Parts: sequence; structure tokens; C-alpha cells
Amino acid sequence: MRRLTAKQGNDMSKAIRIDGKAMAAELSAKITEETAALLQDHGLVPGLAVVIIGEDPASQVYVRNKKRTAEACGFHSVQHSLAEESSQEDVLALIDQLNNDESIHGILVQLPLPDQLDEQTVTQAVAPHKDVDGFHFINIGKLTSGNTADAFVPCTPAGCMVMIEQHLGKDLSGKNAVVIGRSNIVGKPMASLLLQENATVTITHSRTKDLPDVVRQADIVVAAVGRPNMVGGDWIKPGAVVIDVGINRIEVTVDGEPKSKLTGDIDYDAVCEVAAAATPVPGGVGPMTIVMLMSNTLRAARLASGLSVD
Ligand code: GUN
Repeated sequence: MRRLTAKQGNDMSKAIRIDGKAMAAELSAKITEETAALLQDHGLVPGLAVVIIGEDPASQVYVRNKKRTAEACGFHSVQHSLAEESSQEDVLALIDQLNNDESIHGILVQLPLPDQLDEQTVTQAVAPHKDVDGFHFINIGKLTSGNTADAFVPCTPAGCMVMIEQHLGKDLSGKNAVVIGRSNIVGKPMASLLLQENATVTITHSRTKDLPDVVRQADIVVAAVGRPNMVGGDWIKPGAVVIDVGINRIEVTVDGEPKSKLTGDIDYDAVCEVAAAATPVPGGVGPMTIVMLMSNTLRAARLASGLSVD
């Protein structure tokens, strides 16, 4: 089933380029419309608070994009930038304040955190009903037990799922899915989502034996390891759908000049020779992650007011 109106990849490739940027723009327009209707019908404006601690340049870029997208959707959008040396007490006090702020429906604390802060304590301090990252144990438990009616699903795997479903349909019965990477943010929730749609799921990681052989069994591959271009074309089963979550900055030489460029975990051109469809980096999973955050925030606002959600 080829439902995407995505552009083809480069001239040599057989695969469809899954255009995450275009899909995200479409979804974002829908969320903007729904947000306007929410204001008109219920006087409700979804509020998103993004907390960033320290100066990590990549995190600064992600947070700026999240804030910008929230504003474009018509949300009440606030950013709290705390100093690198902030104490755990400072961070927990801010989260407590946001948990109790009725104008805020979603709270996101950008990761990674500076070393003096305990990631688990911080992520678990966010009220589960405002946890638009889906990192709270309550939301993880709801996802893994299949009770997603009022759960929040982590944004990156949720975005990957939308891209997979648009290409293969919702029911993944009979499909083998291989997730490369077992992080709490991507690998594990991704596996839960795929399993929920009836895929047969394998989670692989750095200790997996014969990884390329395992990946070659997959109709769906999700690569989330953070190793530039690791997945080669010879790892891919012909006709597979390949989702690249990696965002790696590498140094390349262009016209004799050193340049830095973003690349994913898959060797995109080689994979496109074999796969049915693949996501590029940049322009694939990244924009979808941001729009899923908006979707979760709108959902949080509706749930907080007792309104129906999908
Ligand atoms: N850092 C990288 N990805 C994420 C994410 O999805 N949420 C948060 N809070 N931080 C991140």
C-alpha cells in the first residue's frame, strides 16, 4: 500500500522518501484549526511550558523550535531557561509551580540535564496529566499495558508510528518490526506502540548478536542508536519501511572546507536502493516529534476540561 504523496528519493533510489516535514506541516495546520475551535467553543487555550536547563546548543535549537511551533498553533507558550548550575530544588520548585498553574496543560523538561540533576526525579515530578513527553511512570505503564485512552505517548515514537501507519496502514499484523536501540525515550515505547498494532517486535541493542541478520528479517526498521550511517543497504529486506530517528552531527569536507552536517543512523542512499520507503535526516522524524508534542498538549488541554480525545 503506497498511501503517501511523498516525493521520490534521489534519482537512483527505488524507495519513497517519507517527507516528515510535509506531514508535520499538514498535522500542524489541523492542530491550529482545532485550537481555534477550542477557543471559540470553550474559551480554552492550550498552554505549553518548556523548561531548559543549561546551554547545550542542540537542546537550545530544539526548544526554540518547540516554542515557535506552539505559538504558530495558537497555544499559550512559555519557556523557562534555567542556569546550567541550577540545583535540583530550583528545578523541582519550578515544576511544582507549573503543575499548579491552570493556564499550563503540558510541561516538558528538555533532556539531557546537567550532571548535578537526577533525570528520574525531575521527570517523575511532572504531574502525569501534564506529562506531554510521556516520561512519567504512570504514562509508561498505561502505554505498556495498552491503556492509552488518557495516556501520553512519547513524542518521537508517536511520530514514527504516524509515518509507519501512513505507509502500511494501521494494522501491522504479520509484519516483523525491528527496533534498534532500547532507550526509554524511543526504543522501548516504540516497541510498545508497534506491538499494540499487532506487529511482531524485536528490540535490539549494542549487545545483540548478528545485528544485520536480525534487521534483515524486518518489514519495519526503526533505528534509534545515535551512530551515524550505521544501517547499510545490505541490512535491509527488500520492500521494508525504514524510520531513522538518529540525529548525528558529523564533520565532512566540502570543496576542501571542513563543514558540519546532520546525518541519521541509516545510510540513506544505500537503504533507499532496497527499501520501499525511508525517512531522511533532516526532514523526517524531527519535525514529526515536534508536532506530536503539540498534539499531546492539545490533548492535555481537552482532557483537563473533560472534553473528548481520540
Ligand atoms: N531530548 C531529546 N529528545 C527529547 C524528548 O523527546 N523530550 C525531552 N524532554 N527531551 C528530549
